[in-house]
Amino acid sequence: INIRQARPEDMLGMQACNLQNLPENYTMRMYSYHILTWPQLSFVAEDAKGRVVGYILAKMEEDDEQEPHTAFAPYGHVTSISVLRPYRRLGLAKTLMLQSQYAMATAYRAAFCSLHVRKSNRAALGLYRDTLGFEVHKVEAGYYADGEDALAMRLTLSPRD
Ligand code: ACO
Repeated sequence: INIRQARPEDMLGMQACNLQNLPENYTMRMYSYHILTWPQLSFVAEDAKGRVVGYILAKMEEDDEQEPHTAFAPYGHVTSISVLRPYRRLGLAKTLMLQSQYAMATAYRAAFCSLHVRKSNRAALGLYRDTLGFEVHKVEAGYYADGEDALAMRLTLSPRD
């Protein structure tokens, strides 16, 4: 399995992988917005035939919760990550996250990385909290379309990450 930056021609494969793995789905416009605006932040895992078996879709945002007088504080946000079932527990999601976090810190000087996760998502919580060191920033009640709460999580990035 090879991990590399996502390109516009990967969008259909990323969308197919997302549709199989998650109820949160996105338009092609959303994929292209991420990949064309922040080309360093999204990655795919591909098999020997070049098929997308996992992806991370990520972007940059600006911190609107900071005090108005504090400096511009860009941060990275993981919109979506998933890995096809037969390829799970091989470390692919961890590598996809670390690659994106590194690019957030180095290419865009992100202060931290943020994401939302369902509070019932044990696998993803294991990855974020236990493997990568994310912490719960706040709980967003009823965040998902079916009413489930989201944990808004954050990981501080150092410029050397
Ligand atoms: N149960 C408990 N811990 C887990 C699990 C699990 N099922 N899966 C991964 N972890 C933790 C473990 O600590 C694991 O390390 P270990 O295997 O050495 O014990 C560590 O995370 C790294 O696991 P990876 O192999 O890198 O994870 P994987 O490639 O299997 O992908 C993912 C994890 C993305 C959560 C996968 O299960 C998946 O695609 N799930 C469905 C989609 C999903 O829930 N995506 C996240 C939604 S939130 C968002 O997109 C921001």
